[in-house]
Amino acid sequence: MSNIKIAIFASGNGTNAEAIAKYFEKKDGVEITMIISNKKDAFVLERAKKMNIPAFVFSAKDFQNPEKVFKLLQDNKIDFVILAGFLLLLPDFIVDAYPCKIVNIHPALLPKYGGKGMYGMAVHDAVIANKEKESGITIHYVNKNYDEGQIIFQAKCLIEDNDTSEILASKVHELEYKYFPQIIEKTIKGKYH
Ligand code: GAR
Repeated sequence: MSNIKIAIFASGNGTNAEAIAKYFEKKDGVEITMIISNKKDAFVLERAKKMNIPAFVFSAKDFQNPEKVFKLLQDNKIDFVILAGFLLLLPDFIVDAYPCKIVNIHPALLPKYGGKGMYGMAVHDAVIANKEKESGITIHYVNKNYDEGQIIFQAKCLIEDNDTSEILASKVHELEYKYFPQIIEKTIKGKYH
């Protein structure tokens, strides 16, 4: 059986993209075929270069053009798309072409603290401002609305009284590195085996 091919979409630092790529380096049957970003100066592109993973940058407009990002996915026979810190809403034709094959991670316990503009530190700032006692991660399928697809997995962390947004961000990142790669693997296997 040929490898299951994954494309990772990332807009920023790319620590999750790197953790996922490292995890699958040691596994047979799954390959991280490419990393796609919408930001030409995103640090994830440096990480891709270091790991020898082909990387591509597209403008927000290119994502809406079926001849650009979508064509690249089709031409390379990508099976799964992983959003690892990706800012843009995907166009309907990409979501429709990959039913239950696009997975996102969100740095909070959805349905709380999701939606447009809720990305990275903005999420943690809102959680701390509301004096929540816990936060966490949500891994979910992507549908046509921000952060509303079916939830696959959640994990929680506690928030202490003195925790800042930065402390919360690092607690959430730890959960992401621990769970995201293995949940991706389980999700893929559920679909393919
Ligand atoms: C991650 O915490 C991810 O959950 C979040 O962006 C961060 C990216 O970090 N995603 C969202 O906020 C999506 N709405 P990274 O670039 O170091 O992986």
